[in-house]
Amino acid sequence: AVYEHLLVETRGSVGLVTLNRPKALNALNLALIDELVAALEAFDADEAIGCIVLTGSQKAFAAGVDISMMAGYSYMDVFKSNYLGANWSRLTAIRKPVIAAVAGFALGGGCELAMLCDFIIAADNARFGQPEVKLGVLPGCGGTQRLPRAVSKAKAMDLCLTGRMMDAEEAERAGLVSRVVPLDALLDEALAAATTIASYSQPIVMMIKEAVNRAYETPLAEGLLFERRVFHSAFATDDQKEGMAAFLEKRTPVFKHR
Ligand code: HXC
Repeated sequence: AVYEHLLVETRGSVGLVTLNRPKALNALNLALIDELVAALEAFDADEAIGCIVLTGSQKAFAAGVDISMMAGYSYMDVFKSNYLGANWSRLTAIRKPVIAAVAGFALGGGCELAMLCDFIIAADNARFGQPEVKLGVLPGCGGTQRLPRAVSKAKAMDLCLTGRMMDAEEAERAGLVSRVVPLDALLDEALAAATTIASYSQPIVMMIKEAVNRAYETPLAEGLLFERRVFHSAFATDDQKEGMAAFLEKRTPVFKHR
C-alpha cells in the first residue's frame, strides 16, 4: 500500500511505521490516523512480522491532533462522527507488540498515541505533555486515563492541568518511558528491542501482551487467574517444548511460530 502521511517498511521481522507530516510536526489529521490503522492492521495480519515500531521525526513524534482541522468543529460534528473514537480503539486492538520510539514533541494526541503503544523508548530530546487545557479542551484520546496509570495521579494532574511539558529524564523517572537513549541511537535501540521480541514465539508474545494489559482492566485476583490460565495454555504449544528443550540441551531455541 502507498501512504500519504506515513512511511511503512519492514526490517527483517519488524514492521516500521514512521509518521511523515514533517511540516506540521506530524500533527494527526483524520487521513493520517486512518492510514495508521491500516498500516498497523496490515502488519498485525502479516505472519512474517513479529513486532512493530512506531516513530516520528527527530523533531516531533507528533505535536498532537491537527488543530486546524478541529478548530471549526461543533459538538454535533464530533459526537455524530464519534470523532477519534472508533479509529483509536482499533489501534488498541493490535495484538502484536507496538513499541513507540519517541524523539522530540509528543504532545496531546501525540502523547496519547505513544501511551497506547505497549512501551515507549524515548530519545534524550523527547518532550511529553497534554497541553489541551491551553486550547480550551481536554485530552480526548486517553490522556486523563492512561497518564495517571503510567505516572501517578500527582504527575498526571500537574501535566493535564498546567499543560507543561516534561522532558525525557522526568518521563523516565515517572515511569512513562522504559528507556532513554541518545537521539542518534533511538531507532537502532527500538529496532533491536523489536527484533528480540520478534525472535520469540509469536503466540507467547501475544499472550504476554494480553496478560499485562489485563492488569489495567481487572482486580488483582481476576488478573492472576487470567494469567494462570494463559500460562497453562502455553504448555499446549510446540514452542514451550522447544524453548525448554533448548535450555536443557544448552542450545539456542528455534521457535516454530515466529
Ligand atoms: C496543527 C500544528 C500542530 C498541531 C504544530 N503544528 N502542532 N498544526 N496541529 N497540533 C504546525 C504549526 O502550526 C506550524 O505550521 C508547524 O507545525 C511548525 O510548528 P511551530 O509552532 O512553528 O514549531 P515550534 O515553534 O518549534 O513549536 C513546536 C510546538 C508548537 C511547541 C510543538 O507547534 C505547539 O505548541 N503545537 C501545538 C501543540 C498542542 O497543543 N498539541 C495538542 C493539540 S490538541 P506553520 O504552517 O505555521 O509552519 C490534541 C487533542 C487530542 O491533541 C484530543 C482530541 C479529542
